[in-house]
Amino acid sequence: MQPDPAPHAPPADPTARAAGQASFTALVAGRGLLYGGDYNPEQWPAEVWPEDVALMTAAGVNLVTVGVFSWGRLEPQPGALDLAWLDRVLDLLAEAGIAVDLATPSASAPPWLAVDHPETSAVNPDGVRMSHGSRNHFCPTSPVFREHVLRIVRVLAERYADHPALSMWHVGNEFGQVCYCDLCAEAFRGWLRQRYGTLDELNRAWGTAFWSQHHGRWSEVVPPRTAPYLHNPTQELDYRRFASDQLRDLYRVQADLLRELAPGVPVTTNFMGFFPLVDYRSWAGDLDVVADDWYADPADPRSPARAALTHDLMRSLGDGRPWALMEQATSAVNWRPHNLPRSAGTMLVDSLRAVAHGADAICYFQWRASVAGAERFHSAMLPHAGPDTDLHRSVVDQGAVLSRLRRVAGTRVDARAALVFDWQSWWAGRAPGSPSDRMDAVDQLLAAYEPLWREGIAVDVVHPGGELDGYDLVVVPGLYLVSDADAANLARVPERGGVLLVGPFSAVADPDAHVRAGRFPGPWAEVLGVSGEQHRPLPETGAQVRSDRFGDFRAVTWSELLRADGAEVLAWYADAGLAGRPAITRRLHPSGGQAWYLSTVPPSDVLARILRDCADAAGVHGPVACPPDVEAIRRGDVLFLLNHGVETRTVRLPFPATDLIGGTRTPGDLVLPAESAVALIEEDR
Ligand code: GLA
Ligand code: ZN
Repeated sequence: MQPDPAPHAPPADPTARAAGQASFTALVAGRGLLYGGDYNPEQWPAEVWPEDVALMTAAGVNLVTVGVFSWGRLEPQPGALDLAWLDRVLDLLAEAGIAVDLATPSASAPPWLAVDHPETSAVNPDGVRMSHGSRNHFCPTSPVFREHVLRIVRVLAERYADHPALSMWHVGNEFGQVCYCDLCAEAFRGWLRQRYGTLDELNRAWGTAFWSQHHGRWSEVVPPRTAPYLHNPTQELDYRRFASDQLRDLYRVQADLLRELAPGVPVTTNFMGFFPLVDYRSWAGDLDVVADDWYADPADPRSPARAALTHDLMRSLGDGRPWALMEQATSAVNWRPHNLPRSAGTMLVDSLRAVAHGADAICYFQWRASVAGAERFHSAMLPHAGPDTDLHRSVVDQGAVLSRLRRVAGTRVDARAALVFDWQSWWAGRAPGSPSDRMDAVDQLLAAYEPLWREGIAVDVVHPGGELDGYDLVVVPGLYLVSDADAANLARVPERGGVLLVGPFSAVADPDAHVRAGRFPGPWAEVLGVSGEQHRPLPETGAQVRSDRFGDFRAVTWSELLRADGAEVLAWYADAGLAGRPAITRRLHPSGGQAWYLSTVPPSDVLARILRDCADAAGVHGPVACPPDVEAIRRGDVLFLLNHGVETRTVRLPFPATDLIGGTRTPGDLVLPAESAVALIEEDR
């Protein structure tokens, strides 16, 4: 007999979440857009704190995250608590009317915990136990770690539940660790018993007949620790699923305690965009407010599009509710190899982009630049050089701009186009041993997003099993793994009159990560009217594709040997061993819907033409014609136009409009200087 698997914390109670969501809404309704950053007063003597608060007030800061890495100051020795300093900090902030997002310090335990209880520290796949001396060295499973976490969380919640500054809980920080220790191995077995019930079923799902991997006892089942060659792909996928769930459990036990001791205070934690180690879709229901950390890379020309896509993901994870941009950098970070600064214009446009895409909070890491520690060269809202700096003045200016955008706070973005993305499919499609390591679901997603974004078409980022009825255009850029039920959900789009576009290397695997036998994409062959028999990664020279509709082009990376079974062929291969075979197809459905299939990676201009065709067919358009580098998006009744480029651009407006930021009225053509933005209220719309 096996013991019962360790019970996992259940998802948050919907009533408690609704109360947290309502308090966040009330917070924003009372203050307008939230503005601020991480505040780490423990790095500074107490004399500095009043100056911090005065400068925050002058900058329009109304929200700070406190205590993310304070455990060592709160409890310098086991059980020896020192909270007087935090009392003082919270009092100062409350007196100034600055709301506090109070963190639980679980991301970084003090050295004594690692020394007294080595099993609280994580083990890497090679079996090496992580040392303290950095951060995030914890094992998410360790009962001793959890016990200490919950003890300090209880102390904080009991002491500050009724503190006037407390406005939000920030559980841990950037959950993302994966541990391979024996405790995690045992918890993994429990997780697998819950998923599969029996060892026979586990053996079937993992396909252990291959390479003699059959398990005869649960104790033989291990995490994918360092091994001589490729791991079992389903074992790897399940470990990713488990690791994400295990971290979520560590989040949940803290969130539950906070909700019990301080009911109604919104609970969140900070996501990291398309972070590869956690399935945020499966977490989103546990956060009262979705929060994200976004560090734009000044060296990346695709950064604006990447940011917009990530923001749309965050808004979509929260079912369209406003979200919080919890961290970004005012200028350079310290963790890239060569850290470029950012311009003041970019900093403002990037923040306004987040607002336009649904954020109600714009925050930075961090308020005052550290002089010591690993992040001493990370930019901040108050740089080493102090307040008399261009950078700090731009921080103050931004506070003023955000205060003029009260009208958008709490409002939504209405999208009729959806892009489909699923973490588990991303994981499975990236597993070693695949036909190519160049097919990445996030790359495919970004490539499909960019043309829509350039046209100002608002997009939600949805799960394949999500509610799709509100969308006229649904794009599946790459979905390697899909369940039958989710495939059927997507197939209904063209059947009910919508436009569906499916990209290459999709519906290849089932949820066990087994390849679906038969012509591909199995569950969609009929709805698309096309089917294939071979995935064919392309040589560097690519493949020639002919098309009357889109123009001839050279496809790269990928091709497929297809046969049209009822679909029109809109483009076909001319070489690469595929001469005359379909490359792009479209099946017209009796409902008026369309089902497109794209079997390769076209150049961006061709992909843009394809997507424009699809958007036209779906009747989905942007609010204005956008010149290059100008992004348009409507949130509530405000039309944001953002020029992220270095040239002045002119936008023709259909209506006269007034800019909430500059206060000016624009009759027809709007001149948008480089790195600038407007938030327009249109007349007569
Ligand atoms: C993350 C962390 C912060 C800080 C910043 C630096 O977002 O949450 O504590 O390390 O990165 O960019
Ligand atoms: Zn562990």
